[in-house]
Amino acid sequence: MGLYRDQVLPRVTDALCSTRFAQPQRRRVCDGLAGEVVEIGFGSGLNVPHYPSAVTRVAAIEPADVGWKLARKRLDASTVPVQRSGLDGASLPFGDDTFDAALSTWTMCTIPDLDAALRELRRVLKPGGRLHFVEHGLAPDESVQRWQHRLEPMNKRVFGGCHLTRPIVDLLTGAGFTVAEVDVFYEEGSPKVAGANSLGVAVSPC
Ligand SMILES: C[S@@+](CC[C@H](N)C(=O)[O-])C[C@H]1O[C@@H](n2cnc3c(N)ncnc32)[C@H](O)[C@@H]1O
Repeated sequence: MGLYRDQVLPRVTDALCSTRFAQPQRRRVCDGLAGEVVEIGFGSGLNVPHYPSAVTRVAAIEPADVGWKLARKRLDASTVPVQRSGLDGASLPFGDDTFDAALSTWTMCTIPDLDAALRELRRVLKPGGRLHFVEHGLAPDESVQRWQHRLEPMNKRVFGGCHLTRPIVDLLTGAGFTVAEVDVFYEEGSPKVAGANSLGVAVSPC
């Protein structure tokens, strides 16, 4: 299990997350990021080419060493300084009110204690700081939801704890964020059970 989780899964994730269908979503979700940014679930750095030049630095949180290695070329080509700064979104090694913005792409499905991670993001974001997100989660249609509940146990085993049924917008709101913008859609090229995406911006309270 260690070899699969540590060596194989980050490479599988890199391949699955590199599809051409994900690119426009990465562009959209990164649009408007500025200043000091914390990215949780940095993975293999697939968002790096999309960071706007207004971003002054990125603190990357990622447990997988292999993900970080796979990011090397993208990091070398980037003008935005990126530092690996932590391993767990649920325990961020920063002071309160540190960041102007946060970024999370297809990561809230996997973090074991997502409530704790959202509390941490609120803590480290400055008042009014913006969390840009694109996440898959509970589908809007009941027929798809039924399949998501059936398949979730297997999906978690195969994809490192990836949940299919997390209600992303409700969880953000429950954690005290105001969801200022959100677009909910099925991703082209993905099965609906894993492609019910929410893309938007959630704002930390002032
Ligand atoms: C589906 S991948 C998405 C990677 C990347 N955000 C992207 O868009 O390509 C989920 C990522 O969350 C990371 N992850 C898992 N548990 C985590 C945790 N507790 N804190 C932060 N990241 C975590 C995984 O290692 C993986 O890189």
